[in-house]
Amino acid sequence: MDRILIRGGQPLHGEIPIGGAKNAALPLMAAGLLTAERLVLTNVPLLADVHTMAALLRQHGIAVEPVTNDGRSLSLGGAIGSVEAPYDIVRKMRASILVLGPLLARMGEARVSLPGGCAIGTRPVDLHLKGLEQLGAVIRLEAGYVHAAAPRGLAGAKVVLPFASVGATENILMAASLARGTTVLANAAREPEIGDLALCLVAMGARIEGIGTDQLTIEGVAALHGATHPIIPDRIETGTYACAAAATGGAVLLKGARLDHLGAVARILREAGVEVEDAPGGLAVRRLNGLHGVDVMTEPYPGFPTDMQAQFMVLMSVADGAAMVTETIFENRFMHVPELNRMGARINVHGASAIVRGVASLSGAPVMATDLRASVSLILAGLAARGETVVNRVYHLDRGYEAVEQKLAACGAEIERIPG
Ligand code: UD1
Repeated sequence: MDRILIRGGQPLHGEIPIGGAKNAALPLMAAGLLTAERLVLTNVPLLADVHTMAALLRQHGIAVEPVTNDGRSLSLGGAIGSVEAPYDIVRKMRASILVLGPLLARMGEARVSLPGGCAIGTRPVDLHLKGLEQLGAVIRLEAGYVHAAAPRGLAGAKVVLPFASVGATENILMAASLARGTTVLANAAREPEIGDLALCLVAMGARIEGIGTDQLTIEGVAALHGATHPIIPDRIETGTYACAAAATGGAVLLKGARLDHLGAVARILREAGVEVEDAPGGLAVRRLNGLHGVDVMTEPYPGFPTDMQAQFMVLMSVADGAAMVTETIFENRFMHVPELNRMGARINVHGASAIVRGVASLSGAPVMATDLRASVSLILAGLAARGETVVNRVYHLDRGYEAVEQKLAACGAEIERIPG
């Protein structure tokens, strides 16, 4: 397995291109199942999860083809030959569950392997299933698979989510687009990636009101048509490189990044002493003087994202004073803490909260990556640390970050991948 070697201590200076959002690309690709016509997505990030979703769609019978040589535009289309999403693909990526709503709405049936647990918690899909049942699906669980059927099609209904789940909102939104009648989805998640999906569905002929709010009203249509849709820039990649620049005392231009998608991240970074400003071509991020400890709690958008928690904790590890970081979305998302402590951080976890006492500097060490965001947080820690850090077991990184070593090296970081 590949490792990443970092010699820390170099402030990052330069420009970093921000790619298309992984968490927008995956549901948008699943939306390709909703139409017999061609859906073209542009600004597609070149990530392992995107390849996994392409493999899943292909085995459903969809042709997924590059439109441009760089692979950043993908065309999706073709007849659906199989309504089964097999365990072998779903176990690699939980977002595979996003094919459930589209398959059910278009074909009247779907069999999708249950994703099971993952490193950051149990992550059930009960809200997806309950929502689809409210649209008239008959669902049973058998031999590790969700069997869903709607022989006479889905019908619009009022669905109130008890928790604003991102994936459940996306599955129900896609299914409701092809249901008979009107669906009102209340307490919907409103992450920018959901807005992006909704805009693409509208371009495909869906009728959706309330985009960007927590109540979506969807008037079902008989069929959707083809469209071309550009994927929004990745706000988590943006926040990650902003933390990298701040933790190393540098200044970067994050090309193509959007301030209006950052939600609480921009405010919290500013409170911590980081300048975050709109600039020609993107977002300018610069550490001002010292960094200050700021308390954060992860929440659904526009609150502070759980996907930025580990990276922000690295920043707080080298800030003046203490910070309390509270995780409310996933129950087991502090796996980076023991590794950061091995690098000299002073972090104590008490239940769902971590107290981070800032230290003058971290020191390089061999560390072990666990989930995707934990992996990148260890890279950030390595960049900020004195000495050499080797991040082991980095395969998760390629699921969510494109060319991370190249992007960082172009800004002066001493970083290289050691193939394993
Ligand atoms: C999405 C993101 C992920 C991010 C997360 C929270 C994608 C592909 N992934 O994941 O990067 O960390 O949002 O912002 O977009 N839950 C249930 N029952 C359900 C669904 C969710 O209990 O049916 C719980 C989960 O276990 C978790 C919480 O709700 O504790 C949040 O999950 P959810 O918002 O659904 O996240 P994902 O869509 O899986």
